[in-house]
Amino acid sequence: MNEWVDVLPVAEFASGTWQTLMLEGQAVVVFHLDDGFYGLEDCCTHDGSDLSSGDVEGSDIICPLHGARFDIKTGAVLVPPAEEDVKVVAVRVDHGMVQVRRS
Ligand code: FES
Repeated sequence: MNEWVDVLPVAEFASGTWQTLMLEGQAVVVFHLDDGFYGLEDCCTHDGSDLSSGDVEGSDIICPLHGARFDIKTGAVLVPPAEEDVKVVAVRVDHGMVQVRRS
């Protein structure tokens, strides 16, 4: 079984944008930041809101529901009310395709 799942060709994945997909029943979001691609579970650890509906500032994602802020690169919570980090999803680029890894 191929453990890597295609997200989008690099050429179609503009910097400053993000893509969502389902990965084994879990919503995930992949961000294209200035220095590369990063993946997180698309679920705020505070109350389950979709992080992909929030705003990106630099390398932070801000939850749209209550304003918790997370580091996109590490999943670390930076600003409450969330207290737990968001789980990181492994991302790679292979032959021009952005991919995420099944856990
Ligand atoms: S659900 Fe994200 S801060 Fe409350």
